[in-house]
Amino acid sequence: MILPIVKYGNSVLHRVAEPVTAFDEALERLSRDMVETMYAAPGVGLAAPQVGVLTRLMVIDATGGEKAGSLMVLANPEIVESEGDQYEEEGCLSIPEFTARVHRPRKLVVSGQRIDGSQTVVGGEELLARILSHEIDHLNGVLFIDHLSLIKRDIIKRKIRKKVRAGEW
Ligand code: NI
Repeated sequence: MILPIVKYGNSVLHRVAEPVTAFDEALERLSRDMVETMYAAPGVGLAAPQVGVLTRLMVIDATGGEKAGSLMVLANPEIVESEGDQYEEEGCLSIPEFTARVHRPRKLVVSGQRIDGSQTVVGGEELLARILSHEIDHLNGVLFIDHLSLIKRDIIKRKIRKKVRAGEW
């Protein structure tokens, strides 16, 4: 089932998500729906708060579904290693139509749990590192615009407010 994606302006995006404790059928259903929602958007990553659920679950496919075996479903992710820096353009399904360059680690190693609760470690460089960092941010209530300078962030916020007033958000 494709779920509605929460947009900037909703407070759920600014809150810290709770750890996953029950690896049950409901979690499996949520992850399935999140994967479907991500691919339909289309996007390369989605975190549970973006569908209004404050739980530490994220789904990622850096290929956008182009390459089999690229899908990652990760619960309770923790950064175990971070290296280097990249400064690339990114966007967010919760802040549609806006992009900006953001500093992210060039390489990231993340531990977490699969949907059955078993432990796993995933590593990524470049785009995948960027997505991992972006989605973990979501679980901590942080959005990509929070990484921007006050001036750049205010420009985007002002444009969003204008869209809200025009009923386009
Ligand atoms: Ni995002």
